[in-house]
Amino acid sequence: MAEPKTNELMEKIVSLSKRRGFIFQSSEIYGGINGFWDYGPLGAELKRNVKELWWRSMTQDRGDVVGLEATIIMHPKIWEASGHVDTFADLMVECLVSKKRFRADQIEPQTGTVYSFTAAIERLAIERLEQILRENPNFPVSSPTEIAERILFGDLKGLGVEDYLRKFQAEAKRHLERGDLERLFDIPEESAGVRIWQTVTDAKHSLESYSALVLGKSVDGAKKLAKEFYRQRGITEPFLLGERIGTVENSTRFNPENGSLLTEPRPFNLMFKTYVGPVADAENVAYLRPETAQAIFAQFKNVLETSRQRVPFGIAQVGKAFRNEVTPRNFTFRSREFEQMELEFFIRPDEVVEAICGRVASAAEVSNIEHRTSNAEHRTSGPQLSTLNPQPQPDWGWEAWHKYWVEQRIRWYESIGLPRATLVEYWQKPEELAHYARATVDILFKFPFSKRDDRGELTGEELEGIAARSDFDLSQHQRFSGKPMGVFDEELKGAWAKLDEAAKKNLGQRYHDARLTYLTKSGVPAEQAAQDAKADAAGLAKGQYIPHVIEPSAGVDRLILALICHAYSEDQAPDEKGKLETRVVMRFHPRVAPIKVAVFPLLKNRPELVRKAVEVRELLRPHMTVFYDEVGAIGRRYRRQDEAGTPFGVTIDFDTLGEKGPELKDTVTLRDRDSMKQERVRIGDLLPLLLEKVR
Ligand code: GAP
Repeated sequence: MAEPKTNELMEKIVSLSKRRGFIFQSSEIYGGINGFWDYGPLGAELKRNVKELWWRSMTQDRGDVVGLEATIIMHPKIWEASGHVDTFADLMVECLVSKKRFRADQIEPQTGTVYSFTAAIERLAIERLEQILRENPNFPVSSPTEIAERILFGDLKGLGVEDYLRKFQAEAKRHLERGDLERLFDIPEESAGVRIWQTVTDAKHSLESYSALVLGKSVDGAKKLAKEFYRQRGITEPFLLGERIGTVENSTRFNPENGSLLTEPRPFNLMFKTYVGPVADAENVAYLRPETAQAIFAQFKNVLETSRQRVPFGIAQVGKAFRNEVTPRNFTFRSREFEQMELEFFIRPDEVVEAICGRVASAAEVSNIEHRTSNAEHRTSGPQLSTLNPQPQPDWGWEAWHKYWVEQRIRWYESIGLPRATLVEYWQKPEELAHYARATVDILFKFPFSKRDDRGELTGEELEGIAARSDFDLSQHQRFSGKPMGVFDEELKGAWAKLDEAAKKNLGQRYHDARLTYLTKSGVPAEQAAQDAKADAAGLAKGQYIPHVIEPSAGVDRLILALICHAYSEDQAPDEKGKLETRVVMRFHPRVAPIKVAVFPLLKNRPELVRKAVEVRELLRPHMTVFYDEVGAIGRRYRRQDEAGTPFGVTIDFDTLGEKGPELKDTVTLRDRDSMKQERVRIGDLLPLLLEKVR
């Protein structure tokens, strides 16, 4: 079948998500709320499966990661320490007419004709000027537009207005000096200039300038926008002044949807603010967490002390995060409320690894995948198989651990049904990295709405970022809380004592320099920074250091969307009468599929079939999600489950009852969703067979 076009495909996916109960718009009966989504029965199961699989693979299946479940609202100082209060902002622009907001970096550059206006005045004033000019054909300026513009911008020369003003002012002064206030009202409106001046200055007007880009061929569109702009400034029927026509090239100053001028970009903090307790004042400000990670850092010491873990080890957390995104978009891709699955994996600094092991393994020893610095160089994520050493080694430094986690995460995506070829491993370029990050790899998924590169390939959108964040986070919390965040490492203490003086000096100096760089960049005064860095380096001899961290941070909702997009497919399947019809099938991997198996009695009006089917349902139900359906023709029932993505269907028919011979008694038909192949399986074998496929 021909592939549906991007928008068409996304429309189908959004519509199926609603129709089958994967994803609904939040608060839909009230018109919805932008950037918020609810998961229906199938979506909730899908999401739960994904989170459980992540949790299992990140914590339960390994001995070096433990879990945490922290609160959403935390002490506001956490967000000062993390930098979110000061820097977690997007540059935002607002349409001057529709008021719609956009992220400045998401405005597509545009080229075209621009209409600009310097001001606007009530049309009635222009009509009045026309009338005065008709009565005074000798007035030096004959264009009412020019007159209005010149008066509004103070260019009064030659309008006959200046003389009047002079005279008026002199006369008014005289009356005032004499205390003859009544006479003020006798000042005659003697000239056309006077009437003109009064007409313009009395009329409602705006001196704000405005521009609009001509979209398509309609110049009228740009003028309409300008009138709307001035209407919003209190002019009932705007007459546009100071019209100029120009062109722009690759400009990001205009709303791509209507052509209107946008405001200048200004920073917009993405954190949702609230108040703790009954008093809504600055003292009680708190934030809904914009990421789950910071709680892990804040609880690092508690977890370390209670879990009996030692560095290297990790803390994992799954939970809600909130960001007041300027432009939520692409269905659930950029939401304002979403879930994250984050791991903070704490490791020894390289100097400590070297002190203990005598060397730091090169990254190449961990994986044959080269660091790549751009998407274009990394488009062939598909066939590259890594020779990753799966067993972490004591001599791994940050580079090795970082590569290890990148590869682990990609393998996990593969294990839940996203093939490597649908993913892109994007190594951020040095200029893209946060100042404290040593390397960051984004794992992108090729969504149908992703942009295409010059070769027509989908470039992908971020599912997860895997960052080597140095010791920045723990150091920040140490500075802001005043509580030590370092660890004591017995092995380091022992190893350090055995180092020769040259090695001690070398490693100590390197550690000192790294700490000094952090402290200086964080704004610690030079003298203090020098003292602290010296003390930190001296700590190595006592077995003390601040761990570094590798952070794989994934979004649950983006992953659900990726799974839905990847699963969606259409093929041809025969209907009841054998005629081919289009079948929509969600090809979820059985491990994530919301319903694992559907159980169907062939006919609902045969109690013995129904009884047996219920027996099979009860056999499977304690072990997996089962859907029982006895309504409609069997083909229809299969189709319904295909759309839900149920990988297996079990049909109880007359063979099951032994009506066609004893050898088939207590066997069922097991239908595979993808191949539509059916096989005969003994009821007694069904559970282990299915468990093997869905776990
Ligand atoms: N602690 C690091 C961190 O939060 P991030 O790249 O800002 O890093 C991590 O977010 C992941 O969270 C992203 O890769 C994405 O999957 C998900 N995410 C971030 N913002 C999101 C949003 N507005 N809607 C849905 N998912 C989002």
